[in-house]
Amino acid sequence: MYDRLKQLETLRASFEQQGWAYAHQMFPPEVAMATLRMFETELGNSREAYEGIWGKGPFTENFCFENYAYRSPFHATILWTLTPYMQAMTGKELLPTTSYFRVYRKGDVCKLHVDRAAAEYAISLTLAYSDNIAWPLWLSEGNFESENSNHSAAADIPEGTQLPMLKVPMLPGDAVIYDGVRKLHGRAEPNPNEWSAHLFFDFVDRHGPYAEHAFDRRGDIFVQPSSFEFPDVDGPKEKAS
Ligand SMILES: [Fe+2]
Repeated sequence: MYDRLKQLETLRASFEQQGWAYAHQMFPPEVAMATLRMFETELGNSREAYEGIWGKGPFTENFCFENYAYRSPFHATILWTLTPYMQAMTGKELLPTTSYFRVYRKGDVCKLHVDRAAAEYAISLTLAYSDNIAWPLWLSEGNFESENSNHSAAADIPEGTQLPMLKVPMLPGDAVIYDGVRKLHGRAEPNPNEWSAHLFFDFVDRHGPYAEHAFDRRGDIFVQPSSFEFPDVDGPKEKAS
C-alpha cells in the first residue's frame, strides 16, 4: 500500500529543498482517465468538433487542442479545488491563477522556458498517452534567472544557456510540482505517442509578490457572493431523491 501521508511529507520536503517535487499518482489513474474523458465529452475530440482552443502556444511548433480554465466552469473548478492540496504541498497560503489543458501530437516538443508570474507554484499533470510511452518533463536542477525580472510573460531561454536538466518520466496521473517562474522546464524530446494529454495548474502566494495574479486577475468576476431565492410557499416540485 502507498503511504500517502508519508508521500505528502516527502514531497513537501523535496519542494522546500529543491524547488520541485515528483507526485506519483497525484491523481489515481482512474481519476486521470475519467478527467480526460470529461474534457473529451465537454470539448470534443476532433478538430471540427473541438470547442476549446485549437491553437499554437509560444513553445510549440504545431497546433494542439488546448483549453484555458476560464472558458469552462468544470475546468476552472478543478483548478480551484486543487488549492488545498497545493497549500499542503508548499506550506504557503495560496490562491489559484490559471490552468491549461493541452493535447500534444506525435513529434511535438515543448521548448524549454520559464513561466510568467502566475505560475509561481505550478503543477504539470499527465492524464494519458495514446501509446503508453512515458514522455518526460525536463526540469532544471538549479534556478534560471530570467532577464524578465518582473515575469510579465513566459520567456524562451537565450541561446547557449546551459543548465543541468533532470528528465522526469511521468505516467498517467503523475505530476511534477515546481516553481514555474525559476525552474526552466519543457519537453525537449519529440512526443513518441500519437498524442498525449496534460493539465497544468498555477497558483500564487496570496501574501507574495505575485498575489495580484490570483484568479488570473479576474477575481472581480468570480469572487462574488451568491444568493438563492425561494417562493413564499413551497409548490409541488419534484422531491429530491
Ligand atoms: Fe511552462
